[in-house]
Amino acid sequence: MKTIIEPFKIKSVEPIRFTSKEERIRLIKEAGYNPFMIHADDVLIDLLTDSGTSAMSSKQWAGIMDGDESYAGSKSFYRFEETVKKITGLNYIIPTHQGRAAEKILFSVVGGKGKFIPNNTHFDTTRANVEFTGAEAVDLLNETGKHPEIRADFKGNMDVQKLEDFIKNTGKENIPLCMITVTNNSGGGQPVSMQNIREVKSVCKKYGIPLFLDACRFAENAYFIKKREPGYADKSVLEIAQEMFSYADGATMSAKKDALVNIGGFLALNDEEVAQQCRNLLIVTEGFPTYGGLAGRDLEAVAQGLEEVLDEHYLQYRIRSIEYLGEKLVAAGVPMIEPPGGHAIYLDAKRFLPNIPPEQFPGQSIVIALYIEGGIRSVEIGSVMFGKYDSSGKLIPPPMELVRLAVPRRVYTQSHIDYVLEIILEVFKNRNSLKGYKIVYEAPMLRHFTAKFEELR
Ligand code: F0G
Repeated sequence: MKTIIEPFKIKSVEPIRFTSKEERIRLIKEAGYNPFMIHADDVLIDLLTDSGTSAMSSKQWAGIMDGDESYAGSKSFYRFEETVKKITGLNYIIPTHQGRAAEKILFSVVGGKGKFIPNNTHFDTTRANVEFTGAEAVDLLNETGKHPEIRADFKGNMDVQKLEDFIKNTGKENIPLCMITVTNNSGGGQPVSMQNIREVKSVCKKYGIPLFLDACRFAENAYFIKKREPGYADKSVLEIAQEMFSYADGATMSAKKDALVNIGGFLALNDEEVAQQCRNLLIVTEGFPTYGGLAGRDLEAVAQGLEEVLDEHYLQYRIRSIEYLGEKLVAAGVPMIEPPGGHAIYLDAKRFLPNIPPEQFPGQSIVIALYIEGGIRSVEIGSVMFGKYDSSGKLIPPPMELVRLAVPRRVYTQSHIDYVLEIILEVFKNRNSLKGYKIVYEAPMLRHFTAKFEELR
């Protein structure tokens, strides 16, 4: 097979600033060993997130100039609405400033104490917005999805039997909707099969529960279906996405991912009455229904991005760049979630640093080493992010200790990825010299953003 090339030419460039290892040792120490506290200018390759970090195309930038800034009835809204309807087939399209704003509005309307929302795995903001209303967020991921070392095609699938048991035990009247997150970000960016979406829909239908997609990475998920699921090889990614959404009664979307923009999102749904309530809230918190929390130019860029993201050359390059990095890491014996997901590599810190216990944050130790060694910024998804304490103050670690390297869309080329690989391999080779860390400051909530650490000797 020939090399899969970046399917674009570069028209505008942004220089990256090189730092020396000595500088980085000082900078990360000054940042309390927390990469969230580093200035982005001191980062060489930024793999903190794939959210809002996409490079826009010349047509998107042209759309920015062309955006209609009318308060009501903007033509950019109608272009946006038409594009979202074409892909999702859903009736009511409500623009929001990003994904969590759509979640906030939706769960304010349908959530509340005594309610339960099942999902394959709730992303943090989804969980937070569900729980903020007093409702409970429940994860029903299939068993394979919980084992980093097991290779399977659709590790994002929901456990359909568990869902049905859960509905029977909880009572359908207490479940205002069921969600599926495509791809499953918190479980390694793993895709969900069409068959699974269909089966979940059929259970939901049996009990009269609406199904919603958390659709941030719907195009990446559709591409995995095309490549991996029997019967889809000859369908276009648009057709596959349309079929995915055909089983959904609604969707929340962070356009900062698969709409290739730096800000934006939407809520889409079929239920007229719920849509009306959501719009009423939207007017209070985001803005008039034909702009939501966005400028007309942002809506133009989202509409254009949603068309570009379904280009199969783009998706081939996108999925391949992560797979390429993953293949080489696996070949070198670096432990990670296998197979690689759609938007990120997730290193398995438990097996990478078996001598550093969760109480000493092995994932954080790798994150720090990647920055010092090569100026790469990644993020810990383990005991720093999700750890809780028992009544005696002892850490209750989450099931996995991971380090996520999320790849921004259309930003880095193959040589950037090769460089990332070299740095990970260097850190892996010297893993026995890595130390654990202790937390010396933490906020009461979402501590990973601002925590400060000290190296253990
Ligand atoms: N759902 C999923 C699956 C996400 O990954 C995100 C964001 C959201 C919802 C919320 O969207 O940021 O636009 O409000 N994920 C980013 C990340 C932040 O780094 O994974 P938002």
